[in-house]
Amino acid sequence: MILDDPAIGSIAASNLTSGAGGVGQRYDDLDYVRAIRHGLRPDGTPLAIMPSQAYWHLSNDDLGALIAFIKSAPPVDRRVAKAELRPLGRILVGLGLFEFAANRIVHDAKRPAAPAPGVTPAYGAYLVNVGDCRLCHGAALTGGRPPEPGAPFAPGLTGKHLAEWGEAGFIATMRTGVNPEGHALDPRYMPWRDYARLSNDDLAAIYAYLQSAMNGTSAQ
Ligand code: HEC
Repeated sequence: MILDDPAIGSIAASNLTSGAGGVGQRYDDLDYVRAIRHGLRPDGTPLAIMPSQAYWHLSNDDLGALIAFIKSAPPVDRRVAKAELRPLGRILVGLGLFEFAANRIVHDAKRPAAPAPGVTPAYGAYLVNVGDCRLCHGAALTGGRPPEPGAPFAPGLTGKHLAEWGEAGFIATMRTGVNPEGHALDPRYMPWRDYARLSNDDLAAIYAYLQSAMNGTSAQ
C-alpha cells in the first residue's frame, strides 16, 4: 500500500505480473509505454503516485528492456483494491498538492537522444533524470524540500562539498547511506538503498554530471 489514510484515501501499487488481478493479463506493450512513460492508464485517466515525470526520460531501449523484464516476471495471483480518494484527497488533488505525473509531462515533446552508457556527464544527466533526483534536490540540484511531509532538506548536489568528497566518496555515500562527514542519510526520505544497486560506472557517471553541472560546463 503506497498510501492509506482514513482522510485522504487509499492507493495500492498494482500487481504487475500476469497472475489473477495483475495488469499483465490486460496490458499490451503500448499500455505499458503509456503507464510508465506517460503516467496514464489504458483508458487515458492518470495514474496516481507513479513517477512518470522521471520515467518519461527512459530511452526506448531501456524502456523496452524494462517492459520485457516486467513481462518475464512469474505470475502472482493478487488482487489489489481499487484506488479510492476520499474528499480530503480530492481537495489535495484540486490544490495541486498531490499532483498526477501525467499533468506535468509534455506528452508530445521531442524525445531526447539517448546517450550511450558510459562514465560521461551526458549519461550521468540521463541517470539523474530517470532517477528523479530533482524531485527532491531541486530543479537545479542546488537543494530542495522533498514532497514527503516531514522530510529533511535535500542538500545541493553541485556545491563544493561534493567536489571534496571525490568520486569514491560519492559512490560510498550512495552505497552505504553514510556521507564522508559521517552523517547517515535517512532511507525513508533519501532512497539510497535503491540507488545503491546502480553499478560503479553508473554512479561515477552521475558524479561526473554533478561535477560538470557545478563547473557550469554542462547546459543540462
Ligand atoms: C525522494 C526524495 C529524494 C530523491 C528522489 C533523491 N534524494 Fe538524495 N537526499 C534526499 C534527502 C531528504 C537527503 C538528506 C537526507 C538526510 O540528511 O537524512 C538526501 C541526501 C543526498 C545526498 C547526501 C548529501 C549530503 O550533503 O550529505 C546525496 C549525495 C544525494 N542525496 C544524492 C542523490 C542523487 C544522486 C539522487 C538521484 C539519483 C537523489 N539523491 C535522489 C532526498 C532525495
